Amino acid sequence: MVERKGIILAGGSGTRLYPVTMGISKQLLPVFNKPMIYYPLTVLMLAGIREIAIITTADDQPQFQRLLGDGSVWGIKLEYIIQPSPDGLAQAYLLAEDFLAGASSAMVLGDNLFFGHGLTESLVVANAKSVGGTVFGYRVADPQRYGVVGFGKDGTVTSLVEKPENPLSDYAVTGLYFLDGSAPARARSVKPSVRGELEITNLLETYLADGTLAVELLGRGYAWLDTGTHASLLDAGNFVRTLEERQGMLVGSPDEIAHSQGWISDAQLGERASLFAKSSYGHYIGQLAKPA
Ligand code: DAU
Repeated sequence: MVERKGIILAGGSGTRLYPVTMGISKQLLPVFNKPMIYYPLTVLMLAGIREIAIITTADDQPQFQRLLGDGSVWGIKLEYIIQPSPDGLAQAYLLAEDFLAGASSAMVLGDNLFFGHGLTESLVVANAKSVGGTVFGYRVADPQRYGVVGFGKDGTVTSLVEKPENPLSDYAVTGLYFLDGSAPARARSVKPSVRGELEITNLLETYLADGTLAVELLGRGYAWLDTGTHASLLDAGNFVRTLEERQGMLVGSPDEIAHSQGWISDAQLGERASLFAKSSYGHYIGQLAKPA
C-alpha cells in the first residue's frame, strides 16, 4: 500500500491579523519559541508521515523554503505548492493531486495547534484507516465560527454544517483531515459556496453520505488552540510557554520528534543544536542529542 502523504495548508492572506501579517505569512509568526507552522508539521510527523506538501501563496513560498528546506534535517521530504488565491480548503486537494498521486492524505491547517495526552495514538489510529476519512471534533464556546458536527439521538454523526447561525452542537471540526485517495476526485465535485470558497465541509459531506466518515471527539484533556486574533495568538504563545517552562519539555519541536521517531541520529540532532546554540530551543535539543 502507498503510504499516506501529508499536506499543510498555509496560504491565505491573514487579514485578521493585519498589520502584523502585511510583511509575513501568518503561519511563520512565532508561537512562543517556534514558528507557527512547526506545530501542525509535528502533528503530521507524530502520525508517522514523512512526505509532506506545503501549500502557500506565491509571495510567501521562498520564506517557507528558507525556514524548512527540503525536510532532510528531519529525515522527511518536503515539497512546495503554490495556491494562487485563497479559494477554499478543499482546493488544496486539487492543487496537491499530482503530489498525492492516488495516495491517501492527512491535511492540517498551518495555523492549527493541537496538544494533548493520547494525541499520537489517535493520529496513528486515523492513519491506519485506509478507506474513508477521519476528522476530529472539539467542543468550543463559539461553534458558529467553524464547521459544526450534528449528532443523531444515538450519537452518530448526521450532519456537518459550515459556520451555522444555529449550531446543532458545540463540536467544531478541527483543521486536521485524514482522507483516502478519493479526496481530489471528490473535491472536483465541490461547488463554490456563498462566500466563494470550495468548502472542506462540502467535501467531508460526500464521505458522510457514503457512511465512511469517522468523527473522533477530542475530549477536555486536549487543547486545540486558535491563532486567529492578536489576543488568541498571544494566548497560544503563553500556553506553550507555560507548559514548556513547567515541564522542561518542548511542545511541537520537529527536531525532537524526528529524533524520537528514529529518523535522524544523535549526531544530526547535535548539528541542529549547535546551529541554535544561542537559544533555549537549541539548548534543549542539545541535551536530547547527548548520549545517555
Ligand atoms: O479551523 C478549523 C475550521 O477551518 C473548520 O472548522 C472549518 O470547517 C473550515 O472551513 C475552516 O474555517 P475557516 O473557513 O474560517 O478557515 P480560514 O478561512 O480561517 O482558513 C483556515 C486557514 O487556512 C488559514 O490559516 C488560512 C488557510 N487558507 C484558507 C483558505 C480559505 C488557505 O491556506 N487557503 C485558503 O484558500
